[in-house]
Amino acid sequence: MSFYFKNLRPDNDSNSENHDFTQAVINGLSKERKRLPSWLIFDDRGSEIFEEIVGLKDYHPAVCEFEILRTHKQKIADIISGEALQVIDLGSGDARKTRVLLDHFVKSKLQIHYIPIDISAGAVKSLVSSLESKFTNTSLTVTGIASEYFQGLEAVPREQFKRNFVFFLGSTIGNQDYPAAGKFLRELWNSLNDGDYVMIGFDLMKNPKLLYRAYNDPEGVFQKFNLHLLDRINRELGADFVKSNYVQEGHYNEQSHAVESHVYSTQEQTVRLPALDKEFHFKAWEGVQTEHSYKYTMQEVEAVAHNNGFEIVEHLFDSNQFFVDSIWKVKK
Ligand code: AVI
Repeated sequence: MSFYFKNLRPDNDSNSENHDFTQAVINGLSKERKRLPSWLIFDDRGSEIFEEIVGLKDYHPAVCEFEILRTHKQKIADIISGEALQVIDLGSGDARKTRVLLDHFVKSKLQIHYIPIDISAGAVKSLVSSLESKFTNTSLTVTGIASEYFQGLEAVPREQFKRNFVFFLGSTIGNQDYPAAGKFLRELWNSLNDGDYVMIGFDLMKNPKLLYRAYNDPEGVFQKFNLHLLDRINRELGADFVKSNYVQEGHYNEQSHAVESHVYSTQEQTVRLPALDKEFHFKAWEGVQTEHSYKYTMQEVEAVAHNNGFEIVEHLFDSNQFFVDSIWKVKK
């Protein structure tokens, strides 16, 4: 029985961390059509706000995936039963969904070493301590790692007789475009052994009205999530964004097959970053794209598995078939 936390993130004031953030902000705001990558939102506070999104009733990716995991937890346990297993949870956050499975695995007396990996050190640290309070004196052991995905995977203890089962839930794969998702899956395949499993959550294409509702909640949590990026840029780069001068809206773009969120400047204004000797001008109602969330058809899910060396084991759907957790085996 052991519960550990490893922090592989550079210090907050480390040069490389700041350099990546600074470069991404400057590049993104210098483009003719301003565009900031969504990973910039995910500092500790951004991850906390995202956990609020996961609790929204119209945010179907989370609602459907909870249903899938509750309904099919025995099927998942059957796939892995009899094998000592390391469950590696990429982008675990507070692991609200994975806990449905962990509870069930422990009740089923499966030997699991659970390894949540997340970029937010705060999220992983509090997850490990909450799992420790709940699962002390059970068959579950936990090593939480705060890091980028592949840096964390490299640090996973290579226990010779244990199979790995990687969870990549929540449709996080959809936050990369299709070529980047393929590259990510190939890299994942490279870091695993023949016979290891992965379970990946894909949000499936559906009526754009439902997508619209999911990404434009009346409570304004998605807006808070996106505008948090302005706070972060103010805090880390000394910018002077006035948050109340911006609003957020997300909609499906049939050209890109993604829901794209934008932050719109409600008036003409200039934002200054004196420490970097930069300023950026916004026309009234000019937008900055802050998120993209690609949607999949089942043909695309199957193609991306086969093209990257995986064999499909099972597709687990919710009752509306809005979402799929697809389980694949690594073939080498
Ligand atoms: C984190 N991710 C899975 C959410 C989604 O629905 O795509 C929120 C998001 N993050 C970046 N873009 C959108």
